[in-house]
Amino acid sequence: MEIRRILVVDDEENMCHMLSMVLGRAGYQVDYALNGMEALDFLNKFPVDVVLCDVRMPEMDGMAFLEAMKEKELDTLVIMMSAFGTIDTAVEAMKKGAYDYISKPFKPDEVLLALKKAEERQRLKRENLYLLKNVQDRYSFANIVGKSRKMQELFAIVEKVADYKTTVLITGPSGTGKEMIARAIHFRGVRASKPMVVVNCGGIPDNLLESELFGHVKGAFTDAIKSKKGLFLEADGGTLFLDEVGEMPLPLQVKLLRALQEGEIRPVGENRTIKVDVRIIAATTKNLVEAVENGTFREDLYYRLNVIHLEIPPLSERPEDIPLLIEHFIAKHNKRLGMEIKGISGKAMKTLQSYSWPGNVRQLENVIERAMVMSCGDVLELEDFPEEVTRPKSSGAVYGLPEKLYSIKEATRWLEKELIIKALKKTGGNRTKAAKLLDISHPALLYKMRDYGIGGMKPRNDSNG
Ligand SMILES: Nc1ncnc2c1ncn2[C@@H]1O[C@H](COP(=O)(O)OP(=O)(O)OP(=O)(O)O)[C@@H](O)[C@H]1O
Ligand SMILES: [Mg+2]
Repeated sequence: MEIRRILVVDDEENMCHMLSMVLGRAGYQVDYALNGMEALDFLNKFPVDVVLCDVRMPEMDGMAFLEAMKEKELDTLVIMMSAFGTIDTAVEAMKKGAYDYISKPFKPDEVLLALKKAEERQRLKRENLYLLKNVQDRYSFANIVGKSRKMQELFAIVEKVADYKTTVLITGPSGTGKEMIARAIHFRGVRASKPMVVVNCGGIPDNLLESELFGHVKGAFTDAIKSKKGLFLEADGGTLFLDEVGEMPLPLQVKLLRALQEGEIRPVGENRTIKVDVRIIAATTKNLVEAVENGTFREDLYYRLNVIHLEIPPLSERPEDIPLLIEHFIAKHNKRLGMEIKGISGKAMKTLQSYSWPGNVRQLENVIERAMVMSCGDVLELEDFPEEVTRPKSSGAVYGLPEKLYSIKEATRWLEKELIIKALKKTGGNRTKAAKLLDISHPALLYKMRDYGIGGMKPRNDSNG
């Protein structure tokens, strides 16, 4: 980054003039504001690379200015200028997001040096990021493996959203890597140096979840012998990962929504609210659209969480990822177990690729690890895998099909109906999308729905022939 435009904020006009002169002579474009409000106004209208801001000013002081910037999500670098006696405040300001500080009085050189230093640090930061990106494998992203189009698309979105405070909702069946993706978003973003706090909304009793999230003051309830900082505050400046958010009880959903909208929380038993700066990533295995329809999940919260939606497909929908994942897990567990497994036989690979993986990637990893321990040679063979995985699927029985049904015509109707219901479920009742999934025309779908009595329409009475 090259620093070119600077805004000086100081209530002493002399200081502003002096800095304008010194910095202008060094080739910077300098503007100044005599107070925080004026400065914010300026930042809203013009691009600025660095703000040089006095700590002590009447009305809006340096700290309040920093906070206002944060609120407006302005990410211009701020360097504080602090007179003797306000150094502590300057350090405090750095904790609040200021980039650096210089102490007054200073020589012109010191300001120029601080600016050069900032420029250098920004450059290094960017180069490091660049190097890091280059060493990563083409198909691996923060240890998340996937070459399927869907996974590659997900990685691209993760990369894009990482640096912003946007709320992300991650959905997908169990074991597909939701938490991994959440971590990637956190650790690739600007919040990486701040904590990522994980809370499993389904794993904490309803009555404790509120104080767990928002904290409580001493005496707020019988067991509250001392006050407790909630997870929101623990995650301040970083990310709060709300796992299984679909399990959150309704009353708490209201409070969560308020926290997201206002950017502030209220600990249990406390009257005041506290400002927090937390990025929310939520995950769920539940279909939240359905949950909204059933009234178990608030619609307004759903929209608030669903700003960016990442849907991780089940493993069975991306078999092309399986060989890569297997290779990845073999390497991972070779290292961990001190083994030297070289690979997997073609026959075993084929079998694993055609298995349905109800437990998704987690199950695949467990199965590989187990096979590695079981194996006698340095190549994993079909025999090293558990029967549930290697047993061929079709034993003649079709899952769910009435046992006495042999008529191809009837069985086809049965299957059609099942598929239509499944497609409608998947698309939340959207018929246009369902027709696409089913690979039939929209009118054909409507006709069949009427025929099978799906979707609240009256069934036709001739289904028995
Ligand atoms: N694409 C992937 N590449 C490498 N490892 C993966 C990938 N996806 C999942 N895993 C592994 O699978 C396991 C499960 O991942 P994770 O815990 O992120 O899943 P999840 O979707 O949060 O599951 P659940 O809904 O059960 O909580 C982890 O051990 C992780 O290492
Ligand atoms: Mg999880």
